[in-house]
Amino acid sequence: MSKLTLDRILQSQGFGTRKWCSELIAAGEVSIAGETITDSRVAIETSGLVFEIFDESWLYREHVYIALNKPADFECSRKASHHPGVLTILPEQFTRRDVQPVGRLDHDTTGLLLMSDDGPFIHAQSSPKRHIPKVYVATTHDPVTPELVAKLLAGVKLHDEPATLAALTCRMPAPHQLEIVLEQGKYHQVKRMLAAAGNHCDALCRSQIGGLKLDALGLAEGEWCYLDDAQLALLAPT
Ligand code: URA
Repeated sequence: MSKLTLDRILQSQGFGTRKWCSELIAAGEVSIAGETITDSRVAIETSGLVFEIFDESWLYREHVYIALNKPADFECSRKASHHPGVLTILPEQFTRRDVQPVGRLDHDTTGLLLMSDDGPFIHAQSSPKRHIPKVYVATTHDPVTPELVAKLLAGVKLHDEPATLAALTCRMPAPHQLEIVLEQGKYHQVKRMLAAAGNHCDALCRSQIGGLKLDALGLAEGEWCYLDDAQLALLAPT
């Protein structure tokens, strides 16, 4: 249980500076359980708190854990240069509370992208020591052959990588489709591994992280959802 003043609560949820939040409260824009609160210094229990602001309901969250079905033509970098950043897809409150992508997908890669404002979570999820398998589905230029699958499973040498990199598993769901599972997250890894094995990646989608499947979330491209504790538990390495 922890109490915070209402101005700090709004600030923590990304509604702006404390001064701006106090002004919103004084202007009667915030209510709790149907009662408009105009005193920004009133201390309120945050656990399970639902408040209305601009006639929209918000559940207080100490941190947010988000899954986005990333569309193509969005960049994951903080300073996006050639395409809009993925944060532009989310409500602006998330940018203000410093939500960041967990790792990167290329601008043309689609699929499951985690986002959060919980630094230790981001760090733990991105750590190569955690060995969290990630599943990618690549559309290949040339048909997938048993030889290609064998090469990827045996390991390929990439420029600037000291050790060979191997797929954990590899399957061929369709003649031009390769499902590849990787534990590492090297720069352009799937595309470079496919090229090193003699094919070319025409399109790439991340379909799963750990045990969390994009399909199970039911998100169309560009849609996002909060992740609950059970879904977050699926991200732990098995
Ligand atoms: N591998 C790639 O080549 N690109 C991605 O976006 C992710 C993995």
